[in-house]
Amino acid sequence: MGKKRMAPVRVWADGCFDLIHFGHANLLRQAKLLGDYLIAGVPSDTETLTHKGLNVFTEEERYEVVSSMKWVDEVARDAPYCTSVEVMQKYNCDFTVHGDDTPVSVTGEHANFAVIKAGMYREVDRTEGISTTDIIDRVLLKTKAHHIDELNDVSNGQPCSPAFLKKMKQFSSKKKPKLGDSIVYVAGAFDCFHVGHVKFLEKAANMGDFLIVGVHSDKVVNRYCGENYPILNLYERVLILMACKFVDEVIFGAPLTLNHDILDRYKVNLVVQDKDISFDGCEPYKLAQKRDVLKVVDSGSSLTTEQIVNRINERRSIYLKRNDTKKTKELIANGTNQ
Ligand code: CTP
Ligand code: C5P
Repeated sequence: MGKKRMAPVRVWADGCFDLIHFGHANLLRQAKLLGDYLIAGVPSDTETLTHKGLNVFTEEERYEVVSSMKWVDEVARDAPYCTSVEVMQKYNCDFTVHGDDTPVSVTGEHANFAVIKAGMYREVDRTEGISTTDIIDRVLLKTKAHHIDELNDVSNGQPCSPAFLKKMKQFSSKKKPKLGDSIVYVAGAFDCFHVGHVKFLEKAANMGDFLIVGVHSDKVVNRYCGENYPILNLYERVLILMACKFVDEVIFGAPLTLNHDILDRYKVNLVVQDKDISFDGCEPYKLAQKRDVLKVVDSGSSLTTEQIVNRINERRSIYLKRNDTKKTKELIANGTNQ
C-alpha cells in the first residue's frame, strides 16, 4: 500500500495591510512557514471603517499590494474584519494566523474571538518597531527621527542593526542570476510602497530574468523630496522590496546618477524607467542612454508617494483621531489603562 499523502495545510492571515510595511511582510512570511498555501484575508474599506478607521490605501490598492508579497498565494477580497469559522470553511483553511497584538472589533471584542474558540488560531511574534499607525504619525508629526544617519548606512560599509540584518536574511530569496540571464536594473526611493511601485516592478521584471532594484539613501531622497521624506527609512524600504515577488536583489543606497560601477559589477543588460526623470537638472540615466540599454515604460499608474502623504494631510483631524483611538484601544486591550 502506498503512503497516504497529507492534504496541504491552508493558512489564513488577515489584516488591513494599509500602508504596507515590513511588519506585515514578516507576518505573511511567518504564516506561510506554518503551512503550504497562504490566503491573505483583506477587508474592504467600509468594513475597516466600521471596526478600525479610515484607510490611506483604497481596498483595490491594498488587494494588489498584498498579492505582490512573495509568500501570498491568494488574496481573499472583502474579508470580514472579525474572522469567522464560516469564512475559514469557505476558503477551506485550517487555521488563521495573527501577530500577538489584539485586534479589537467595533464591539470591543477580540476580532478573532470565533476562531480562537474553535481552536483554529495561531499566534506569531509581532514585528517590533513598525505599524501603520507609526507611519501615519510620521506624516502627521513631520518627524525625521526614523532617518538613518549616513554614517550607519550599509552602503558606506557600516553594518545595520542585528534585528534588520536578521530580517534581511529571512526575507532574502537567495536567488542568484544564472549564466545568460538578462539582468534588469531599476532605481528609486520606493517610499510608502504602493501600487504604482508594484505595477512598475512587475513590468520591469517581465522585461528580463533577474530584477535588481537600486534604493536611494535617506539623505539622497531627502535632498530631492525635502520635508521629512523619506517616510520609511532605507532599511524599511529595502525590506518591503525584498518581500515583493518581482524583486530578486536590492542595492542599498544606490547612486542617484547611474554609474559604470553599477552597470558593470551587476552585469546589467537593461535599465528601466517609467518616464523621463530629471532631479534638479541631473539626468540619472544618461549613461544607460549612452550605452543604449535604457528602456522607458509606462507603469500604468500615476500614483506617487506624495499623493499618499497628501491623503493623510488632507484628512489630518480624521487620522489624528484614528491614531488616538487606536492607541487607547491597545492600552485597554493590554490592561494598562489605569
Ligand atoms: N503585524 C505584525 N507586526 C507589525 C504590524 C502588524 O506582525 N509590526 C501583523 C498584525 O499582528 C496582523 C497583521 O500584521 O496579524 C495585519 O495587521 P494590521 O492591523 O493591518 O497592521 P498594523 O501595522 O498593526 O496597523 P495599525 O497600526 O493600524 O494597527
Ligand atoms: O517615486 P519613486 O522613486 O518611489 O519610484 C520608484 C520607481 O517606480 C521609479 O522608477 C518610478 O518612476 C516608478 N513608478 C512608476 N509608477 C508610479 C510610481 C513610481 O513607474 N506610479
